[in-house]
Amino acid sequence: EKGGFDHFMLKEIYEQPKVLEDAVRGRMSAEDGWIKLGGVSEYINKINSAKRFIITACGTSYHAGLLGEYLIEELSRVPVEVEYASEFRYRNPIISENDIVIAISQSGETADTLAAIEIAKERQALIYGICNVIGSSIARATHAGSYTHAGPEIGVASTKAFSTQVVILTLLALQIAEHKGTITTSYLRQVLFELKNIPNKIKETLKLDAQIQEIAEVFKDATNFLYLGRGVNYPVALEGALKLKEISYIHAEGYPAAEMKHGPIALIDEQMPVVVLATNDSAHEKIVSNIMEVKARSGKVIAIVNEGDTEIAALADYTIAIPQTEEILSPLLTVVPLQLLSYHIALMRGTNVDQPRNLAKSVTVE
Ligand code: F6R
Repeated sequence: EKGGFDHFMLKEIYEQPKVLEDAVRGRMSAEDGWIKLGGVSEYINKINSAKRFIITACGTSYHAGLLGEYLIEELSRVPVEVEYASEFRYRNPIISENDIVIAISQSGETADTLAAIEIAKERQALIYGICNVIGSSIARATHAGSYTHAGPEIGVASTKAFSTQVVILTLLALQIAEHKGTITTSYLRQVLFELKNIPNKIKETLKLDAQIQEIAEVFKDATNFLYLGRGVNYPVALEGALKLKEISYIHAEGYPAAEMKHGPIALIDEQMPVVVLATNDSAHEKIVSNIMEVKARSGKVIAIVNEGDTEIAALADYTIAIPQTEEILSPLLTVVPLQLLSYHIALMRGTNVDQPRNLAKSVTVE
């Protein structure tokens, strides 16, 4: 049932190229330049006239939500708020019929997310669900939505479900932007072609597994880790830290790279591994300076870069070089080495990778 893999988590990491194809099947065509997500066309007028989107979720799904904020704002220029479902539901949130609430949940059973949906529904917002489990409580409670089609996710630490959530949010953001006319047809095609290529680029990234295993060996006894990223890779930093905490029980924090100097920099010494998401995007030069700040304090830098980045290779202690893609799609690739790093570190520390202590696959209690 683990398909030849030692753990479900590893199997699910390796399934990502396939499930990303499943997630987009019938929903887009790069050749013909169209996107059609279930539920969107049906509510297009309401979505088009929305004054604001509110994304609500928990844990890893919340990190996908943070990416959704970036994608929808960047592409369609409509304001987006992202909130932990557990906070949202308890603070008498301001919601009206002009808002679209996007609820994201792998299991579709998370109690806090379900409760947040009920509140938003009472206040007449349109609720769009992004769920993995078909027929789940959240899927049934929403007005419209898209399934992620990641297939069953057994490992408690979410991996492939996250990637498919990000893909759905990307399609959603593009479809809204196309309707609003905030992106050009040629840009749309360019992104869709890149999206179509992502599964192959994930396959390339998975080939770095042996190298990542060697890096895991070096840092497996660390007691703390920092993860830094900017822009779209900031939520990936949060997600990388969460994966490490969950399965290896090492304390880890994700930070926007530029925030480091406002506090966490005090933690940096030769014992501190810092994972930096440093792909060739608009923040590259800034990230280079952040790496220098870490190195000046003797921190150990593990940088996720694009192939051919000699500048960062000369600065970092370890570089993991992944294929280049369109900036907004970069998280689909950068998250993969972070999943593998956590997996290998946890394995080396002898923890139960698929069923970490104190955690359950779906949190149906408040
Ligand atoms: C992280 C993880 C949890 C879930 C969270 C939300 O690896 O598994 O943080 O992401 O409990 O669960 P869903 O997406 O099922 O609502």
